[in-house]
Amino acid sequence: MGTEHHVPAEQQAREADLVERVVASFAGTPALRTRELVEALTRHLHAFLRETRLTEDEWGRAIAFLTEVGHLTDDRRQEFVLLSDVLGASMQTITINNEARANATEATVFGPFFVEGSPDVGLGGDISAGAPGEPCWVEGSVTDTSGAPIAGALVEVWEADADGRYDVQYDDRRVAARGHLHTDPDGRYRFWAVTPTPYPIPDDGPVGELLRATGRSPMRAAHLHLMVVADGYRTLVTHVFPRGDDYLDSDSVFGVRDSLVVDVAHQLPGTPTPDGREVAGPWSRIHFDVVLAPAAT
Ligand SMILES: [Fe+2]
Repeated sequence: MGTEHHVPAEQQAREADLVERVVASFAGTPALRTRELVEALTRHLHAFLRETRLTEDEWGRAIAFLTEVGHLTDDRRQEFVLLSDVLGASMQTITINNEARANATEATVFGPFFVEGSPDVGLGGDISAGAPGEPCWVEGSVTDTSGAPIAGALVEVWEADADGRYDVQYDDRRVAARGHLHTDPDGRYRFWAVTPTPYPIPDDGPVGELLRATGRSPMRAAHLHLMVVADGYRTLVTHVFPRGDDYLDSDSVFGVRDSLVVDVAHQLPGTPTPDGREVAGPWSRIHFDVVLAPAAT
């Protein structure tokens, strides 16, 4: 709980006056939406400063923290997205912008590891490209909210390997454990991946420092990322979470939705695979049906 601070009336008036002067400075903003955003930002930022009675030292530390977040961010490391994620701001934005529509699949965080231009692996292809992990057959359908199949929908998939790393975290810049394919005429998709395993978000930067200072775990519940895109439908960015994972209740980015938790069927070595592929050891399979909401009109 926060500490109650007694602030004399004259001091309060002085602070409130400053807020109003800053808000008024934006009165000439031509774009109404921009004006709405900067005015609300001003009010909420000042409310935070006043409520916490932020010290000048703390202000300095905040600036240093954000500076470090910026310095660490480049085309392969997105510390700002990570910061937004651990504060729940990413998930809140997604929740606001993906209102429940009938039985449409729920959205969750995009995360910092999507990379444009993933390989086209084709239906039944293998996205792992040598990434370490247990083979996992993933299949399902893409339909509209009435159950009608959506043919030709783009399905983008990406995930961490069994060591908890995405390819962008490898030293050699090779592409692995990501790919895309399109649904068949019956709206069905299928591909090989690796069985999702839990991993820590990168915690060697300022966001990791924040988590340690607040006694929070960097672990994400195991998941496979999916993005499904089809003309006339709301683009879905979501995850599939294996049931029984240790971190479903403490996901560091608040991304878990009950409706996205699925059974993983573990298969003994020697069990025939759906496409006849020879797999030496154990493998697993996941079934996940996607329902797209209509695009906003
Ligand atoms: Fe992820």
